[in-house]
Amino acid sequence: MQKLRVDLGDRSYSILIGRNLLPELGGAAEKFEFSGKIGLVSNPTVFKLYGATAAGSLIKSGFEVEEIIIPDGEEYKSLASMEKIYEAMLRAKLDRRSALVALGGGVIGDITGFAASTYMRGIDFIQVPTTLLGQVDSSVGGKTGVNHPLGKNMIGAFWQPRLVLIDIDTLATLPKREFLSGLAEVIKYGVIWDEGFFEFLEDGKDAVLGLDGEALTEVIRRSCEIKAEVVSRDEREAGLRAILNFGHTIGHAIETVTGYKKYLHGEAVAIGMYYAARLANVLGLLQEREVSRIRALIMAYGLPSELPPGIEATDLIPAMELDKKTVSGTLKFILPEKIGAVRIEKGIKPEDIRKALSFRGV
Ligand SMILES: NC(=O)c1ccc[n+]([C@@H]2O[C@H](COP(=O)([O-])OP(=O)(O)OC[C@H]3O[C@@H](n4cnc5c(N)ncnc54)[C@H](O)[C@@H]3O)[C@@H](O)[C@H]2O)c1
Ligand SMILES: [Zn+2]
Repeated sequence: MQKLRVDLGDRSYSILIGRNLLPELGGAAEKFEFSGKIGLVSNPTVFKLYGATAAGSLIKSGFEVEEIIIPDGEEYKSLASMEKIYEAMLRAKLDRRSALVALGGGVIGDITGFAASTYMRGIDFIQVPTTLLGQVDSSVGGKTGVNHPLGKNMIGAFWQPRLVLIDIDTLATLPKREFLSGLAEVIKYGVIWDEGFFEFLEDGKDAVLGLDGEALTEVIRRSCEIKAEVVSRDEREAGLRAILNFGHTIGHAIETVTGYKKYLHGEAVAIGMYYAARLANVLGLLQEREVSRIRALIMAYGLPSELPPGIEATDLIPAMELDKKTVSGTLKFILPEKIGAVRIEKGIKPEDIRKALSFRGV
């Protein structure tokens, strides 16, 4: 088992990563001063697979478990689901020293964290992410929230978990496409922060795609370590944390114009990363060779890198301007200068974006 620390003063917490960790959940939770009751939040898909092990472990450690199941799907990351969670918590008489456990992917993690941040003005919660995206990204860093019909992730709070427990064995049941989508965020960490890790991903492709335990543990460990490092330097995204949005300005625009149907998040981010690298090249910041290397790694992991026919810069640029991370009308991009280092660029000219987005088949 690997153990990492997210360093945030009195809100610091550990991330445990390893095989067959779910049965240890109760023992890990015992170390905190929770009262006897725990709300276990999940969805039917994940609960059927892992609910009994998670609940059983908590019960064995003396907790009373209230199972709170919300339907599976991004559309349930909503205020309506929040109300259901609050109601279940109130009926079960969870108090200020009770805790929530999020058992599931990013949807369950985000909504459970937000419920924890607001129930009785804030209670503790534990993240048990079961998707690769959850394990390398959404469970670490304390961004929680729900969607509003007028915008994704528009309602939320910064609320750090007390513990993140990552059982890599849960990835065995994750649909392959979801797994690959999570790898886009992993590739992102290599590009923004660590060329050595990028090389590890180049060399270790077969082991990672074959779900080799050691390779997966290293992928998740290093990803969490990089995210934790960035978040502990800039918890509330005053500056540096924005680098985690590499590939996301274009990626979000792709998700918007395709109505969140054609691509999974990581797939859109993969395309976004390639075109952000292209843009950096257009602006003279990044060598062609490095653009090709980034694209090759994206493709090696079975992810899309190119815009499909029919989606053009004229569709995407307006969608980018709607990105909430756009500050006062200027477009902000995270652009690589080399593999392992990025910079934040504001005020990029639309014609340069158009030029970058026009690349196909190279
Ligand atoms: N808080 C953050 O910092 C942050 C960062 C990135 C993404 N997010 C959010 O995360 C969400 C996406 O998360 P996601 O990609 O994990 O999607 P998800 O939570 O919808 O999970 C994807 C699918 O996999 C299923 N599943 C989960 N674990 C499984 C397992 N082990 N075996 C089989 N099936 C399993 C789920 O039921 C679901 O159908 C979005 O709402 C996004 O906004 C948050
Ligand atoms: Zn992302």
